[in-house]
Amino acid sequence: MADGRGSFGSRFAAIMALAGSAIGLGNIWRFPYMVGQHGGAAFILLYVFFCVFLSLPVFFAEGILGKTSRLNPLGALRAKAPKWSWAGYMGILAAFVITSYYSVVGGWSLDYFIRSIARGFHGMTMEESAAVFHSITATSWEVLAVFVGFLGLTALIVLAGVEKGIGGFSKVMMPLLFVMMLLIVVRSLTLPGAREGLNYLLKPDFSKIDGPAIAGALGQSFFSLSLGVGCVLTYCSYMPEDENLFATGMWTALFDTIFALLAGFAVMPAVFSVSGLEPGAGPSLVFETLPVVFTKMGGIVPVVFFLAVLVAALTSSISMFEVVVAWLIDEKGMRRGRAVLLVFLAALALGAVCALAPKVFSACDFATSNIFMTLGALVFVLVVGWVVPKAEPFKEFSSSRAGARLFPVFWFLLKWICPIAIAAIAVTNLL
Ligand code: PHE
Repeated sequence: MADGRGSFGSRFAAIMALAGSAIGLGNIWRFPYMVGQHGGAAFILLYVFFCVFLSLPVFFAEGILGKTSRLNPLGALRAKAPKWSWAGYMGILAAFVITSYYSVVGGWSLDYFIRSIARGFHGMTMEESAAVFHSITATSWEVLAVFVGFLGLTALIVLAGVEKGIGGFSKVMMPLLFVMMLLIVVRSLTLPGAREGLNYLLKPDFSKIDGPAIAGALGQSFFSLSLGVGCVLTYCSYMPEDENLFATGMWTALFDTIFALLAGFAVMPAVFSVSGLEPGAGPSLVFETLPVVFTKMGGIVPVVFFLAVLVAALTSSISMFEVVVAWLIDEKGMRRGRAVLLVFLAALALGAVCALAPKVFSACDFATSNIFMTLGALVFVLVVGWVVPKAEPFKEFSSSRAGARLFPVFWFLLKWICPIAIAAIAVTNLL
């Protein structure tokens, strides 16, 4: 059953696809703004700490389940720990819900990319730019059209298959994405007033490390590495058998963190160079402030930036879409074409509701990032730490010398620290 479901073919494609899943809207608008709000470099240190000690072990747990079972989340859990297979359904459902609402935001980035090509932001003030964003999100035909366009692009890439579609797209687009971001960083850092933006990002303020900052850093590191919904599990099920999972995980986390920092260096100096602008949170930063700021920096800058946002969003949305498709192929015996069509139609329905009803949108966001992702991650670490024979994870780590040496640390974190910490967070989120 597992044969013929596709493979990434090379290590480079696997790393680019995993980095593509990880690097997304979470890096570009959420990370820079959270860093600024929660104490600058102090928050970055906390974020890196959580990445290394909690998120990476969860990443490896998911990866081990996928790589050794060569199945989707449900199939993998059913094969390894049948009692926990309900969590497989939960992951697939969460991946589906995220696909739907993430594509709404993806649609906005498509809209802004087209507008920036048409020089739609020239000479605009902040008020005018905010009015454009409100009119897009309030005009139902436009918001639906760009949402369908984005979801359609996602479906087409997934339809082209694991190796050619997902792997091929990521292999070409991810290096390009880094280059685009680097160009904007260089442009942004040479602006007058860039220093203030850097201060906002980098000045450590340990007094701001409070409960919300800690929960925020952990939530961000989970969301950013696409953990808990089976994306990592599914992608690792397509990895070449002899591939080194340890190195792949380290590279993915490293690229993800570097990209988040780059996005911060691209965005904050630009925002501060325009006097009187305060970095806003979430959508208002990317979709209201940045078009004005980047247009002032030169005609090509907004085009490059919104293309980068679009590419980052697409490489993430294909990873969630693929989780559901993999389940339909493995468990329901469907052909890829049919599975893609079915997921496309179902996501079209839920996404359209999200696009038109902001309350449904926020409910989907809250439920997935605060409840499903944490619970999913908890199940993955418990299954690998306590149910699967220790020899399986050990084998995956021992294919590299560094991995073999670090295995005892990983094992301790996975078995004891991760379950306790994640359970504590899950309980706090539910209260
Ligand atoms: N990691 C992606 C981002 O940073 C979001 C994501 C979450 C992707 C869950 C897949 C699964 O935007």
